[in-house]
Amino acid sequence: MSLALVRTSLRGLKLPGNVLRRTAAPVDFDVLSDEQLRQLALGLFTAMYRGGGIGLAAPMVGMSLRAIVAVDEARPVLMFNPELVATGPGTTIGYEANLCMPGLTGEVERPDRIELTWLNLRGEDRQAAFTGSAARTLSHELELLDGRIFTDLAQPRSVKLFGSAQRAAAATAHVLDKPAKLPEPADHFRLSCLTLPPSLVGVESSVLRIPSRKVVPSKFKRHDLRHLVEAMFRVQYEQRGVGLAAPQVGLSLRLAVIDDGRGEPLVLLNPEQLEVSEELEEISEGCLSIPGWRAPVARATKIKLRNHTLAGTPYELTVDGHRARIVQHESDHLDGILYPQRTAGPEALVRDDAGALAEQALDSPSAS
Ligand code: NI
Repeated sequence: MSLALVRTSLRGLKLPGNVLRRTAAPVDFDVLSDEQLRQLALGLFTAMYRGGGIGLAAPMVGMSLRAIVAVDEARPVLMFNPELVATGPGTTIGYEANLCMPGLTGEVERPDRIELTWLNLRGEDRQAAFTGSAARTLSHELELLDGRIFTDLAQPRSVKLFGSAQRAAAATAHVLDKPAKLPEPADHFRLSCLTLPPSLVGVESSVLRIPSRKVVPSKFKRHDLRHLVEAMFRVQYEQRGVGLAAPQVGLSLRLAVIDDGRGEPLVLLNPEQLEVSEELEEISEGCLSIPGWRAPVARATKIKLRNHTLAGTPYELTVDGHRARIVQHESDHLDGILYPQRTAGPEALVRDDAGALAEQALDSPSAS
């Protein structure tokens, strides 16, 4: 179980609350345990190798921390709190891409040599100079720690689609008999569900643990809020969940979608709990962001809340039963609370059906 990549588009990058636009916090060796640092490093390397990239910064998996991994001539590099101490003298121009924005590339001018200081996994000081493609990759990852992405620096006219995205745009342009206007994937927002292993639930720099900001509908461009909601429902259905909150797709916004198949689909926008029943019910819960695990969580059986339409008009809503549970789970997401924090402790978490079956399969004689 590892960390999953944020997915976005050029338009998605401009949405308020995007974790890729946040200044990442330093890795604090007094706060994070050795095991958490190890799990973080493992998660970053796994996401980079799985994505087929040559570098990755922690914000790309929703962790707003100053940590990067890269490959320098096949050697893996891990840096906590990297700092640039010298650049140059020369620069080169080259094409770059980002695993979070699949199908997009652009030309960026970078120093041909950079010198960095950083801390390794044990917190020891390191310093080295990098040239060639490693200088480019590391410069690219470093700027992500300050909320910048390569498309900000690329020559605007050089930003284009490549690979299957380009073919899809070309095919669409052919069918429509006119050139595609936007250098952007066909869908407005590309979203993926971020994940955390249970051992990293305690790390407060994850976008999943940061309290989200209020949605101001007027700050969204025309139809963007609607397209965002649609993209979130799509992720929820693809992942077979019953609800999904914006922080789970890397957006620190007070917005969630719910569809449990037992009633109308519901969007929570800046929800506020007005009344909570005293009666509680304890039922096993899971979360798309902590796949493979479940735990019993006590929740109120009935709640009354003030919710808002996509236009921002307030209305009151009372929900009970299973839906009340989902509303509370998703509202918790907006406050940076994950369900394991509502349980007696980490030992309350058990493998879910798929996780338990996977372990049984590995233990069976036919698998070994
Ligand atoms: Ni959840």
